[in-house]
Amino acid sequence: GALPPPGPLQNTSAKLVNDAEHPYMSPGPDDIRGPCPGLNTLASHGYLPRSGVASPQQIVDAVQEGFNMENALAVFITWGAFLVDGNPLTNLLSIGQKTDETGQSPSPPAIVGGLDTHGVFEGDASTTRGDAYFGDNHSFNETLFQQLVNASNTYGGGKYNPQAAAEIRWIRIQDSIARNPTFQFLTPRIDTAYVETAFPYRFWVDGRLNTTDLDLDVARGFYQYGRYPPDFYRREGAFGIPGNPGLARDIAILAEAHPISPGHNEGVGNYVLNPEDLGLRGNVRYSCFYFCGLVVACIRLICPLPFALSKICYIYTKHANVTVRSLYPNPQGPLRDALQGNLKTFYNALGDPECPQIPMW
Ligand code: HEM
Ligand code: MG
Repeated sequence: GALPPPGPLQNTSAKLVNDAEHPYMSPGPDDIRGPCPGLNTLASHGYLPRSGVASPQQIVDAVQEGFNMENALAVFITWGAFLVDGNPLTNLLSIGQKTDETGQSPSPPAIVGGLDTHGVFEGDASTTRGDAYFGDNHSFNETLFQQLVNASNTYGGGKYNPQAAAEIRWIRIQDSIARNPTFQFLTPRIDTAYVETAFPYRFWVDGRLNTTDLDLDVARGFYQYGRYPPDFYRREGAFGIPGNPGLARDIAILAEAHPISPGHNEGVGNYVLNPEDLGLRGNVRYSCFYFCGLVVACIRLICPLPFALSKICYIYTKHANVTVRSLYPNPQGPLRDALQGNLKTFYNALGDPECPQIPMW
């Protein structure tokens, strides 16, 4: 089967995380780093195995401890990536390239290629990493970082803040439309592009400062070197999807600055929309009764007119039904059990009772 995910932190206060037990050590020749500067940092400070190969449980523990990411968000992202990039038989994921260190892989069309794998989780128009079409989707790119610096100077008063971030996100999308004939901007990439744009001003600002203004030298340390600044404190309080501040609100604000619908390029400069990727509709609703904040009973209602299901429900549904299914069309035995368990963990992290769980295999 599959191992359960870790629970939340007991104590989500700001605290020193670049501490004596977690010194920066530059990765050795066999250590793997990849497209995520957050995970690269956790590996280079020993919150994750320095090899860059980890279980999803280790990743959730590390993003909670090292950055104060909220539990459901951490589980949702980690399992979203693990299901398509990791090895369900050995419970290991590479945070970069494909490696034998994740053990004997299930047979193709499963990829088990690590986070570098293009198109199943990693995608185009990344902030400081190039599009896979140009040959390298995972290394720090100085040219792209200079665009971030310039836009932060122009729109953020010299800081990477929400105003600068919204412009940088748009610059990266426009650049991919203009130059990448294979550009794809569909679920989940259209969502993770905004997520990765908000993370730096939510997770990389020292927890004692309590601002959303990220210093550009600090930004470079994370993006390029995967390194905490000296004496770095994690943020105060866990950061998750709901609430204010919360990721759902951040994404809405970033997207509102320069709206774009899901689509893909057919030749450079020709962005074609994919309206079928806008979301899901459903007819089943639950109405629940509460007593002192606890659910005491729910009734299932069949609505005559379909209503919009949540965005995250669509992300889950497409990921399971399309992407995971394409990698594992007919799994058997222990592989099937492991996948079922991991899909349940992914579903549970949604916390959306209106979202139907997808029956698989
Ligand atoms: C990008 C995975 C947590 C910050 C990415 C990408 C992947 C990924 C696959 C590449 C997406 C792309 O640009 O195409 C994960 C997983 C996590 C996680 C599985 C587990 C929870 C974090 C955390 C932070 C973070 C905790 C910040 C503290 C970023 C940033 C980028 C990114 C800033 C954009 C990099 C760039 O293109 O410049 N992540 N990530 N991530 N991640 Fe993570
Ligand atoms: Mg990318």
